[in-house]
Amino acid sequence: MSIWGFLAVSGGSWFSWLGLDGKQSTMIVDGPVARDQLRLFYITCWVTLFLFLVVGGVLAYATIKFKARTEADEHAVPPPQGHGNPFVEIALIGGSVLALVIIAVPTLKSILYTYDVPIADKANAYQVTATGNQWWFKFEYPSEQIPGAGSLVTANELVIPVGRPVHVDLRSIDVMHSFWVPKLAGKVDMIPNRPNFLWMQADEPGYFWGQCAEFCGESHALMRFRVIALGPKEFNDWLAQQKQPARDVPAPAAARFGGATVQPAALRTFKENEPGLSEAFEVAPLDAWRAKQFPEKNEVPELIQKGRQLFAAKTCITCHTIRGVPGALGITGPDLTHVGARSTIVGGLLVNTPEQIQRWIHAPELVKPGNKMWVTGYLVNHIQLTPDDEVALVAFLESLK
Ligand code: CUA
Repeated sequence: MSIWGFLAVSGGSWFSWLGLDGKQSTMIVDGPVARDQLRLFYITCWVTLFLFLVVGGVLAYATIKFKARTEADEHAVPPPQGHGNPFVEIALIGGSVLALVIIAVPTLKSILYTYDVPIADKANAYQVTATGNQWWFKFEYPSEQIPGAGSLVTANELVIPVGRPVHVDLRSIDVMHSFWVPKLAGKVDMIPNRPNFLWMQADEPGYFWGQCAEFCGESHALMRFRVIALGPKEFNDWLAQQKQPARDVPAPAAARFGGATVQPAALRTFKENEPGLSEAFEVAPLDAWRAKQFPEKNEVPELIQKGRQLFAAKTCITCHTIRGVPGALGITGPDLTHVGARSTIVGGLLVNTPEQIQRWIHAPELVKPGNKMWVTGYLVNHIQLTPDDEVALVAFLESLK
């Protein structure tokens, strides 16, 4: 077993003891690119640790051995001073060069390896484009074309096929961001007007936490995303579902004009730092994601229809696209065609539950300070939502599977 294999196997226990096994751990990784970066980290670590021990050891030895121990030592005549020792000097230069070479060779190999998909795998690579926005990520699938609507577009949750290299083109619409999925790959800057890219691959189906890693304004720390890796069949099923227009849940004709008799939930008032952050799933995150792919059992068609109308009436359609909803063509905000099928909302910040959607649309500025939905949407368009409006909009958004 190689030293890397040994570390990977033995690592689990003492990593968790040290708290190094978090959701964004770069020490326990799940793909070849992150594994290569980890290997390089260890090489650099061991070489520098060795140098530290040698230099520190010599220093400690000299300090202890030549320490002045008596009054007489302190006033003693210094021993004859030398002017260098050719053997020591050459050895030090040689040793330094050797240490640099030991680090440089794997570094160069890693730079080449992580730069782009290996040539042998190029034909098998899957292509996506990620665009940074203040403060959320847009994901486009150029190979998945929808007649009349262009490429498949989604937001904040990047679904990829497992075991296949994924080439991610990195763009930014506003300021500099950085794309980082610690367990898979990263990080590479998303720079306005300067195309960048990276590649990654997931070994197993999984749910991975990503984070913008470049300060990009007020809510930078809240700019998160997810990568969901699926097996071939599940991935193709997901693509087929995503290409569909938004799901509609028609209300029975009588109810549609007779007025719904649904009781809206009492308006929740949320405190600024109340839980609801998306670290907290009740089941395994990938299972939580899978569960979101299916319609909720207790849907209320009347509420959904009311929410659908409010989505236009409250001008949400000017910033958000929902394919299949007339007029909903905005591109300033995330595409919401299948928002109900995502495990998180608000740039990966909140769990996608009716409560958390209501919390977000009720007071966006308390959830993600400075966000554009609040500043250029709610404030400019004087959007005001009654508790009943909020409940209907939540029902509509949740229905979009
Ligand atoms: Cu985007 Cu930090």
